[in-house]
Amino acid sequence: MVRATQREIQAAVEALRAGDLVAFPTETVYGLGANASNPVAVRKIFAVKGRPAGHPLIVHLDSIRYLHRWARDVPAVAEKLAARFWPGPMTLVLHKAPNVLDVVTGGQQTVAIRVPSHPMAQQLLTAFGGGIAAPSANRYGHVSPTRAEHVRDELGDAVKIVLDGGECQIGVESTILACADGHVRLLRPGSITLSQIRAVAGDVMIGPDAGAPRVPGSSTSHYAPVTPLEIVQGDALEALAGGFNDRGERVAVLALRLPLKTLKLATWINAGRRPQQYAHDLYAHLRTLDKAGCVKILVQELPDDERWDAVRDRLQKAITRTVLEAPFDLASSAGVLP
Ligand code: TXA
Ligand code: MG
Repeated sequence: MVRATQREIQAAVEALRAGDLVAFPTETVYGLGANASNPVAVRKIFAVKGRPAGHPLIVHLDSIRYLHRWARDVPAVAEKLAARFWPGPMTLVLHKAPNVLDVVTGGQQTVAIRVPSHPMAQQLLTAFGGGIAAPSANRYGHVSPTRAEHVRDELGDAVKIVLDGGECQIGVESTILACADGHVRLLRPGSITLSQIRAVAGDVMIGPDAGAPRVPGSSTSHYAPVTPLEIVQGDALEALAGGFNDRGERVAVLALRLPLKTLKLATWINAGRRPQQYAHDLYAHLRTLDKAGCVKILVQELPDDERWDAVRDRLQKAITRTVLEAPFDLASSAGVLP
């Protein structure tokens, strides 16, 4: 993996200190970072992304050494999870320390923390010293960027510095675990499987609990290409694609295999049957298919196996993207733990 020069890191750190935004690579997806202790800087993230105010952000740290500045009453199970999976693609939702800004937590009493492993993210965080609040570096509701050029395509000149760390190794966003109250709850599946989490944490509940504020990342308008997407069974792919072609319509296919016959008006991607490779390529494939001028993206149904949970989750969210999201209600959610 690529490392940045000292000069690049210095420029990025100066930008962060000046309250500007810096896009940087992580092992999951690219993040759009601001100094998490500067409310004016953090607000710029919302403006640039077009993200509704009130959606909480993840605070990135270089290690757990300053965790106590951001979180309090960290339960033993969270410490075990941190010891096992940090640095890495896991985010923990914990009770926030008193000084953590409302603009970062969405006014909640909890804060999401992640220690990324990407060497360039590590370089940046260590040189900066503080916490970097960062969502994925895409426009609100779009597919997350897994390459520096995706960030440039999405955000253009709005972000002065984009650190280029090459392709993100994992390709889907981190696993989010809420563990503020000592129970572990999976809020967003990622590359770490449920079995791996259970091996460390024991019992794990799944999904936000009934009384919780909605996790905006789990809302339906996320992770979506513009072309409508549909999940179909593998043995129906050629017939369905052929049906579009017969009407003179071009169709995109994201499959686990090659096509069994030649299709005239199709952009067919064989993403393969390996879940990690599939996740790594997923967002780049969706971008490619979205640009192919098709009326529909047909996605082959995924194997029913926990190693596919993260990509299944993202594809499910991409389908239901047309359901509009109500604005996040700060007042009614304040103080409610997810
Ligand atoms: O892999 C990742 O997690 C990437 C990289 C850049 O670190 N970041 C990312 O950020 O995916 P974002 O903002 O796109 O998604 C963060 C998710 C959102 O769903 C947000 O609602 C949730 O984290 N979140 C943040 N703080 C929370 C809190 N206090 N309680 C519950 N969910 C929270
Ligand atoms: Mg995002």
